Amino acid sequence: MAKVAFIGLGVMGFPMAGHLKEKGGHDVTVYNRTASKATDWTGKYGGKTGSTPAEAARDADFVFTCVGNDDDLRSVTLGDTGVLAGMKSGAILIDNTTASAEVARELEAAATAKGIGFIDAPVSGGQAGAENGVLTVMCGGEQAIFDKAKPVIEAYARMVGLMGPVGSGQLTKMMNQICIAGLVQGLAEAIHFGKQAGLDIEKVIEVISKGAAGSWQMENRYKTMNAGKYDFGFAVDWMRKDLDIVLTEARRNGAKLPVTALVDQFYGDVQAIGGNRWDTSSLLARLDKK
Ligand SMILES: NC(=O)c1ccc[n+]([C@@H]2O[C@H](COP(=O)([O-])OP(=O)(O)OC[C@H]3O[C@@H](n4cnc5c(N)ncnc54)[C@H](OP(=O)(O)O)[C@@H]3O)[C@@H](O)[C@H]2O)c1
Repeated sequence: MAKVAFIGLGVMGFPMAGHLKEKGGHDVTVYNRTASKATDWTGKYGGKTGSTPAEAARDADFVFTCVGNDDDLRSVTLGDTGVLAGMKSGAILIDNTTASAEVARELEAAATAKGIGFIDAPVSGGQAGAENGVLTVMCGGEQAIFDKAKPVIEAYARMVGLMGPVGSGQLTKMMNQICIAGLVQGLAEAIHFGKQAGLDIEKVIEVISKGAAGSWQMENRYKTMNAGKYDFGFAVDWMRKDLDIVLTEARRNGAKLPVTALVDQFYGDVQAIGGNRWDTSSLLARLDKK
């Protein structure tokens, strides 16, 4: 059992912190900017709350963060009230936010200066993965630090991998999002085409999902896409945030991502028709729009 702090009890963080307490058996202190979510969490799981990230992180062996973007992450980690101000030397900071590789390196430098270890550890698997404790966790950091953090992370994960030095977890998550962007657009175009051609979409997918066109997105999203329902997971606003991170990194490393850049604009169209909180399969909505 370790002393753990968890900062950011959103859709993902709330259940992840719960698994650290219930499955991991750890002594968990939480912090959330909107304090009512932290009291909801202690009401459900027990544990303690801190009034600032620094206070929640005091004396913890492992501190987890799961907030929105780079700036949110800086605001809960740096400065007088950030976790690094409260953490002890020898402790480890594990960041589950989907953020840039650059901010990961920035935080590692700030952590190392205080004798604190750092792992960037973005996740994949969505709300259901968080609730069921079966996330995929893509880590960047030093082997010795990772070896200490891995058994703790496993409380909410099915797969935890060290991909390379700090920043590599975020770069891996970027590859993940590049795959999803092109794949969902292809699926949306196929369903749109099938409808225009008068095919029975259910029948078609039942057959082609067993062949080379099959994918997680096809298996799990075709029914809801066909029904024009887009309330089943990762929101378009979040995807645009992730694709912005991807495209910024690609400009830096020279990678050519023409399809990803185009799909990013398509998600902009979805936002323009009111789909900010729809899930990523809503690329079909802009094609089906009359
Ligand atoms: N949802 C998914 O399916 C999914 C899947 C994979 C990865 N992710 C990634 O995981 C991260 C969290 O996603 P989520 O779905 O849990 O988001 P969410 O439900 O919107 O929760 C965001 C959390 O971050 C906190 N926060 C945001 N800005 C903050 C700031 N400046 N200072 C302090 N706290 C701040 C929020 O506090 P308040 O409660 O006060 O707003 C909330 O606790 C994101 O980076 C997202 O891209 C999400």
